[in-house]
Amino acid sequence: MAQKTSVCIVGSGNWGSAIAKIVGANCANLPEFEERVTMYVYEEMIDGKKLTEIINTTHENVKYLPGHKLPPNVIAVPDLVEAAKDADVLIFVVPHQFIPNFCKQLLGKLKPNAIAISLIKGFDKAEGGGIDLISHIITRHLKVPCAVLMGANLANEVAEGQFCETTIGCRDAKYAKILRDLFQANHFRVVVVDDSDAVEICGALKNIVAMGAGFVDGLGLGDNTKAAVIRLGLMEMIRFVEIMYPGGKLSTFFESCGVADLITTCYGGRNRKVGEAFVKSGKTIQQLETELLNGQKLQGPLTAEEVNYMLKNKNLEEKFPLFTAIHKICSGSLKPQDLIECIRCHPEHISHCFSRESSLLPAPKL
Ligand SMILES: NC(=O)c1ccc[n+]([C@@H]2O[C@H](COP(=O)([O-])OP(=O)(O)OC[C@H]3O[C@@H](n4cnc5c(N)ncnc54)[C@H](O)[C@@H]3O)[C@@H](O)[C@H]2O)c1
Repeated sequence: MAQKTSVCIVGSGNWGSAIAKIVGANCANLPEFEERVTMYVYEEMIDGKKLTEIINTTHENVKYLPGHKLPPNVIAVPDLVEAAKDADVLIFVVPHQFIPNFCKQLLGKLKPNAIAISLIKGFDKAEGGGIDLISHIITRHLKVPCAVLMGANLANEVAEGQFCETTIGCRDAKYAKILRDLFQANHFRVVVVDDSDAVEICGALKNIVAMGAGFVDGLGLGDNTKAAVIRLGLMEMIRFVEIMYPGGKLSTFFESCGVADLITTCYGGRNRKVGEAFVKSGKTIQQLETELLNGQKLQGPLTAEEVNYMLKNKNLEEKFPLFTAIHKICSGSLKPQDLIECIRCHPEHISHCFSRESSLLPAPKL
């Protein structure tokens, strides 16, 4: 009998816990997977009890996904290496700022043929003025291939079993089936594409746009303005891939990881919520993250800063006025009220008359 594939989920926040419901159920039901799934949990004390003990006895992550039962075959483990050392598939789902430290701890401790998949939305700064994709960091540090999963997947709605789609970006076709089987469910439909970098970049950049959508809401502007911000955000996302990661496909932006995730995040996500509160309350982003998110981490402002670091170094801020303005507002050097002025003369409104100069593959013929 072929060896069963064993799975570890590295992370147990809101999304990590929601995906544990699907992955745990699939590992319990599908013959190709080992039933026991380990989940690395950053230990915290909740009302005098360890979070790992609460999860392993009540099967509920009371802090990050209250009100939902995890399958009993998902076992919370407080030691990262202990959780990961026997896994064939590692699912990385932690806020992106923790990844470099996690990689250091895991180096040399994994199974030789292990593979990884990152559900993490964000970048890291690269030396010399660029950005690093999280999947590239994982591959480089841990010497494992790393796919990505991104989509219009607000964790609480996925946990409730509401229908949605997701996109797996996987460069190596030989891993596509096992990864699809691991995540696919009746309510969670998976499309696998090979354009992995573009999938991941969509997942990170949409959090910047969502901050902008939140500012629009906070300023009391209407749906037309919000739609304009979303569309300009999409165009800057496409332009970013075109310039920084040539070879991406335009069709990827029409998968769940692209336009669908952008829309859901600009209407429902935590970045939009904090963006709105930032304008209305006058408090700092850090204050609002603490007050509104109960330990969850905000990705948009950090990603805006990382992207700005790259754009500034390459003298490209003017080509990305929305990303640039959002970064400046988050970091306090521009007032939210100035957002619209910054995008009134967007390159989209100036350079394109009838033709577009996209080097991405053309949209499919209708
Ligand atoms: N929540 C969503 O709806 C959603 C959906 C899709 C993707 N994502 C992405 O998934 C990733 C994980 O987000 P999430 O929502 O699961 O997390 P979260 O923001 O809900 O939770 C924070 C997590 O970080 C852990 N943590 C806190 N301090 C830590 C430390 N010092 N060291 C290590 N871990 C620490 C906490 O235990 C917790 O598991 C992010 O990149 C996010 O953008 C989230």
